[in-house]
Amino acid sequence: MKCLPLVLVAVSSGAFAQTPERPFQPFHLPQLIEGKTFNLDLHPDRKVFWKGSKGTPTMGYNRESFWGPTLVFKKGETIRLNVKNSLKEPTTTHWHGLHIPAIMDGGPHQMVDPGKTWSPTFRVANNAGTYWYHPHAHESTQNQLTSGAGGLIIIRDDQEAKLKLPRTYGVDDIPLSLTSRRFKLDDKFSFEGDNDKYGDYLLVNGVMDPQITLPGQWVRLRILNAEVERGYILGFSDNRTYYQIATDGGLVDRPVPLKRMKLMVGERTEILVNLADVRPGKHVDLMAFNSNQPFGFPGGEPGTAPPNGGYLNNIDFRILRINGGKKTAKAVASLPKTLTLNVFPKLSAVKQERSLLITADNPGEPFGFDEKLFAMDRVDHVVRLGDTEKWTVKNNRIFGHSFHIHDIQFKIVSRSDGPVEPYEQGWKDTLYVPRDESVSFIARFDDFASNTDAFMYHCHMANHEDGGLMGQFLVVNDPTVGATKFRPKMKHAASDELLRFARETTGRAAPTFDGKDADGRALNLASLAKTKPVVLFFIESQCPCTKEATVMLNRLQACLKDVRIVGVINGNAAVAKAWMKATKPQFSVLPDPGLQVVSAYGAKSAATFTLVAPGGRIAKTYVGYGREMLVDLASRVAGFTGRNAKIPNFADAPKELVVGCPFPK
Ligand code: C2O
Ligand code: CU
Repeated sequence: MKCLPLVLVAVSSGAFAQTPERPFQPFHLPQLIEGKTFNLDLHPDRKVFWKGSKGTPTMGYNRESFWGPTLVFKKGETIRLNVKNSLKEPTTTHWHGLHIPAIMDGGPHQMVDPGKTWSPTFRVANNAGTYWYHPHAHESTQNQLTSGAGGLIIIRDDQEAKLKLPRTYGVDDIPLSLTSRRFKLDDKFSFEGDNDKYGDYLLVNGVMDPQITLPGQWVRLRILNAEVERGYILGFSDNRTYYQIATDGGLVDRPVPLKRMKLMVGERTEILVNLADVRPGKHVDLMAFNSNQPFGFPGGEPGTAPPNGGYLNNIDFRILRINGGKKTAKAVASLPKTLTLNVFPKLSAVKQERSLLITADNPGEPFGFDEKLFAMDRVDHVVRLGDTEKWTVKNNRIFGHSFHIHDIQFKIVSRSDGPVEPYEQGWKDTLYVPRDESVSFIARFDDFASNTDAFMYHCHMANHEDGGLMGQFLVVNDPTVGATKFRPKMKHAASDELLRFARETTGRAAPTFDGKDADGRALNLASLAKTKPVVLFFIESQCPCTKEATVMLNRLQACLKDVRIVGVINGNAAVAKAWMKATKPQFSVLPDPGLQVVSAYGAKSAATFTLVAPGGRIAKTYVGYGREMLVDLASRVAGFTGRNAKIPNFADAPKELVVGCPFPK
């Protein structure tokens, strides 16, 4: 992304995307699915978006060719979803906003291969509200979302059912999923990552230029920003007041009167609007008042050309034409005064504070959290089950972002850019962090402890998320032991190359090295191995498996005092020290930032061990570690050291070989 200078271009609000050659199209109401078992089938499809088009290749769930059916869940019920992947590529389906176990969450770890069906089951714990589902496979989220994969979820509960609110789907309760697309000349969606973050044509539930006839009474709109990156400033063409009744996580205490509100990527809002004055023959438009936003507002960049421009950028445009219709028999006659009584966590209960800094050194570079891009096999934070925490998301000076966290609903407590907006006082799972600002929220992490399955937090702008602006956290019973067990579901196979190298080097002279360990002590392989066996342990600093392996090696060192163990780590002394602090090895660690030792030993995997016999020849290289392998290593070491050698007990080591995570290229 480029930093464009802030140029205020005055665009009249008459410059809508509606043109004479593009007539209104009928509103599309996604099919509704209710019950306790939900069958979803994500398949390649085709959809005609405007008259005369040959159609655009898309992805849809079930009978929908772009964007999926609306699922209705009931709070307290245990449901099951069967998600079939009929695409030619892997995907996942994430239940955005739901409080469910990480393994049911459909994040990047719950991959569904082509042809396979994934069947998560969980108890619906969230309050009545508007949530959604969408693909979440790392690095293909933007592509699949652009193709139309996603849909709304409506949760109902007893509290909401008691209120006199419009809730007849498609009549006085209208779902609006907002997004935009850019088309190529052959009518295909243009999809070139960051180049196509802004669509040129608005789609509401997958339809361009929609119009709807709504009854002249109080009507409820459930609005989702399902964009890749664009934000929306919502309002009506006649500036009428509307009332927010729910945020991301459900009802607010009292309706919030508004004329404008920001709705950024991933956020939902439910509003009530009184259309009693919009008689048949009259109309009012739901609008995006996006012109003249401060620099960093997504979609505020002037110009129409990619990468940063778009036809809808920096203008006010119509979202939905609402034509006046007749009142229904069961019209909701008035606006409720109160809706619910939310009890939020208290600042005084905060046990742990964290801050996440959104980084990228220069415009155009991928964004990351705290100078790190997302890694599937790295746990970034470990939270204690039941704790209330305060998280602060700090942005850099490059661009605005839409921050989302899985598992919980939070309460925003402060913003550096001013007071917390009246429309973000309720439960939230997504928030906007303007450029150069920071936002803090508090949340309690209840219910789903796991030492092995992580939740995500990320920027919901799909191009940023795919680019690496994502991290993961575990919720565990005991953080002091929690993080050690995390292991990616992805398997890093012991490659043929690695195995061949391991075989072929046996018996050869060990490549020697002469350096200093992380504590500054001299480390020379030739002199170490003169009379004693040496075990070289190759460490990928970000790999969680190495922590487990270290526990085993410490045991080996304690039992067989004559062996010298040397960890070789892919980083400088500071990296080595940080790793040592976290892992507590009983052996010295050699920083190998240039990977010279690593490559001399062909050790391309974290869990690779080379046993050097006294005298300096390679006795054996092990790819991966596990119970049997450790016993074999210990026996060989014992064979060299002789007398009274005792082999440690490795009963708690993994039964299957753990190969570990590859060194980054
Ligand atoms: Cu809407 Cu991580 O997701
Ligand atoms: Cu972002």
